[in-house]
Amino acid sequence: MSDTAVKPPTILVIDDDAEIRYSLTRVLGSRRYQVTEAANGEQGIAMVKKGPAPDLVFLDVRMSGMSGIEALQHIRSVNPKQLVVLMTAFGTAQTAIEAMKYGAFDYVMKPFDPAKVLSLAENALKAHADLRAVGDYKPTINADDYREGIVGSSPVMQDVFKVIGQVTASDVTVMITGESGTGKELVARSIWKHSHRAGKPFIAVNCAAIPDNLIESELFGHEKGSFTGATGQRLGKFELCDGGTIFLDEIGDMALATQTKILRVLQQGDIQRVGGTETIKVDVRILAATNKNLEEMVKDKTFREDLYYRLNVVRIRMPALRERGDDVPQIVDFCLQNLFKQRKARVSKVSPEAMAILMHHRWPGNVRELENVIYRSAVIAQGDAILVKNLPKEILEAAGEGSAVPFEISTPATAPTAPAVAHPAATADKPLSLELAYDFIFTELARGGDPLLPQIEHAMRTRSLKDSEGDEARAAAQLGVSSVTSSTASSVKKRVAPGKKKP
Ligand SMILES: Nc1ncnc2c1ncn2[C@@H]1O[C@H](COP(=O)(O)OP(=O)(O)OP(=O)(O)O)[C@@H](O)[C@H]1O
Ligand SMILES: [Mg+2]
Repeated sequence: MSDTAVKPPTILVIDDDAEIRYSLTRVLGSRRYQVTEAANGEQGIAMVKKGPAPDLVFLDVRMSGMSGIEALQHIRSVNPKQLVVLMTAFGTAQTAIEAMKYGAFDYVMKPFDPAKVLSLAENALKAHADLRAVGDYKPTINADDYREGIVGSSPVMQDVFKVIGQVTASDVTVMITGESGTGKELVARSIWKHSHRAGKPFIAVNCAAIPDNLIESELFGHEKGSFTGATGQRLGKFELCDGGTIFLDEIGDMALATQTKILRVLQQGDIQRVGGTETIKVDVRILAATNKNLEEMVKDKTFREDLYYRLNVVRIRMPALRERGDDVPQIVDFCLQNLFKQRKARVSKVSPEAMAILMHHRWPGNVRELENVIYRSAVIAQGDAILVKNLPKEILEAAGEGSAVPFEISTPATAPTAPAVAHPAATADKPLSLELAYDFIFTELARGGDPLLPQIEHAMRTRSLKDSEGDEARAAAQLGVSSVTSSTASSVKKRVAPGKKKP
């Protein structure tokens, strides 16, 4: 019986201050933890090396001799999975964030609140156990799927792939329908890539995004002086796309007058520029997409019936993600491996519990929404797997899990000083949460952009305020700074994009 009894978790406290070691040992020892001590970095590293490695290390940042950050790097090189919580007394927030960059699980400010230390230890050990329980990464997709950029082994998607294969050999017009984010554009590109037109352009035109008075000029071009502002001749997409494939996205939003001209291209294979009289032959294959009900529109006479039949030679209906349950793990895998390859995240897998939640979600925004959720969760995940607690709040709420988001931010006592360009979710009365800040930074970096530091600063300041229950002076004291600065924020940026920029 004795050898099957659960051993108490072991904790190593590394601090050069004997008083701190003593009080931490007492606090932690009051629970089921078995605590050992080291008086400096070198000694601590030796203990981890010698083994057995402790379940958790509390490590001081400012020590005489080797610094905590240095010790952290050593420890993590000896044991990459070693769970470490950093402690800072006088350290700036920047130091703490640097620490997170080198793989600390969390950081805690001195002087400690014993209850906080205990809950931190418990959370850290729990997260570690959860990560360990995830198991090895098992690939769900092969190299071909990556090349194709479109994954799905559900029967409904297999049907879609078959139709794609059937329509690539000819120039037949294809209408792709389906809810937003189901992959309509991806399918259009796939048809083009596999067709004999692959070497020629693929041009996507979003009919909903272009005002009615400009769409004809956009599609067919115009002659000089044909309307105010037409200062020269301009070629339209159809001419530019000669020999290629044009994708008319959101065709349900196209004005009736323009519909007539598209019908002409389909019937006669020619166009006229706006303000011109010349008839120009074009060789363009048309693919179209919509999430509107075109049949209803035909009945209401807002969509031309003849065009409807011309476009609808072959129809591909994209299934909603909720009809493709089995595809969710594959799409998740696909997103994570892509993120990993692009060095935008260190996460390679998802815990079975988190995957179950993802598989049961309704996904009103379909694959696009799933992609977004994976990106956001991967960025805030602390280990190599996405756990339930890393999933965004709205997904957990929908699953009845309540909010488990680690950094829930309330409105701060001080409003941020006018951010230059606001994140869409950040307004004076609804500031960015840290999670949103990470999401924002991530998306911006992914686009090659440079997220604004004021917004990141704000999110961080809010977190420290929350930790100190809204007491600003205490928040500042805890952070060891008068306020969060842009250098602090830039450290967060670095953490979010490991490898993107070397400090
Ligand atoms: N089967 C799939 N495998 C991998 N990624 C996918 C798949 N389907 C969609 N995606 C991804 O989801 C996102 C949305 O896809 P896409 O833009 O093609 O959707 P859509 O149907 O055109 O959406 P909307 O109606 O909003 O324009 C893209 O980033 C795309 O790469
Ligand atoms: Mg689209």
